[in-house]
Amino acid sequence: MKYNRFLTVLLQATAVVFLITACSKEKSTGSKDWALVPFVKADDANPVLEAGTSTFTCPILNQEVKWDEKDVFNPATVVRDGKVYMIFRAEDKIGKYAGTSRLGLAISDDGLHFTRRPAPVFYPDNDSMKIYEWEGGVEDPRIVESPDGVYFMTYTSYDGNLARLCLASSRDLETWTKHGLVLKGKYTDTWSKSGAIVAKRNGERIVAEKINGKYWMYYGDTDLFIASSDDLIHWKPEEENGVVKSVLKPRAKMFDSRLVESGPYALVTEKGILLLYNGMNLDEGGDPELAKGAYCSGQALFDLNNPAVLIDRLDQHFMMPDRPYEITGQINQVCFIEGMVPFKGKWYLYYGTADSKIAAAIGPEI
Ligand SMILES: *[C@@H]1O[C@H](CO)[C@@H](O)[C@H](O)[C@H]1NC(C)=O
Repeated sequence: MKYNRFLTVLLQATAVVFLITACSKEKSTGSKDWALVPFVKADDANPVLEAGTSTFTCPILNQEVKWDEKDVFNPATVVRDGKVYMIFRAEDKIGKYAGTSRLGLAISDDGLHFTRRPAPVFYPDNDSMKIYEWEGGVEDPRIVESPDGVYFMTYTSYDGNLARLCLASSRDLETWTKHGLVLKGKYTDTWSKSGAIVAKRNGERIVAEKINGKYWMYYGDTDLFIASSDDLIHWKPEEENGVVKSVLKPRAKMFDSRLVESGPYALVTEKGILLLYNGMNLDEGGDPELAKGAYCSGQALFDLNNPAVLIDRLDQHFMMPDRPYEITGQINQVCFIEGMVPFKGKWYLYYGTADSKIAAAIGPEI
């Protein structure tokens, strides 16, 4: 009896010590007062979207294709009429690359259970963008609203050789107008991706916000670069010595040692412009605690008075691949954040898992 009592006390003491250690470990992950954390993966609902069996007639092939048969991933999200609208990337299994990408639409009442439209809403067509979009397709959407309620979407066109950052707009997220390449002139035939437009929260809407009289966009998938615009359609990259100016770089020995790539839009906050981004780990010389090539999620803060100036950055990722469908898939070890909405009082983050499925994580209260 006495011995049992002693054991209980010992166990309780151990638990207290363990808790204290756990808490201080939490602190040492280096969260900062400007960061949007924590995000908790919605395990009961995840993955929220998987490959499907829908068909549609591809206007270029002039034949029926199972457009979402291979994988779905990398979503943008918008709250519209009290529902979460998700524009996601889907791949078929056919053609030269065994996987042309198109963008589908899925809608949810609760942010976690989605119903998808049977046909994609955005795809390569017999139009002026076909030379850039066929037959790799259209990839990786990110969406903000203009102040007068037009949705602007950045996406990647892929011709099988080069990825180019492009723009489209829509009033209803279903019918889209293509506006062409973001980078033109001497940059037309250079690799570009992942455009995150600076925007501000207005209720549950995310609206593009001018700073110093211009709209801004972070983009890139090596370093991050920055471009500005008067009208959200025509963009000009910031240059330094005749080349695009880097505003965020990979860091040796860290989760983002190989590359940094925009997450969702960049969010104007009181403390600065908050950019959630994706970081890839190096095979050698990266973070040894992470898998080679892992994609984890980071956060950076830029100056409200000068969006090209980095003020601060989290030292650690805030999300990493550790669920089975994040570890294994078309590309292993990937959490790729791309959609985020303020919804029913909380932040909802959406991400591609292993380039195969889509998952959600629920963040702090707004
Ligand atoms: C689009 O162009 C292709 C190749 O020229 C052609 O085979 C196809 O019929 C066209 N589709 C439509 C809908 O006109």
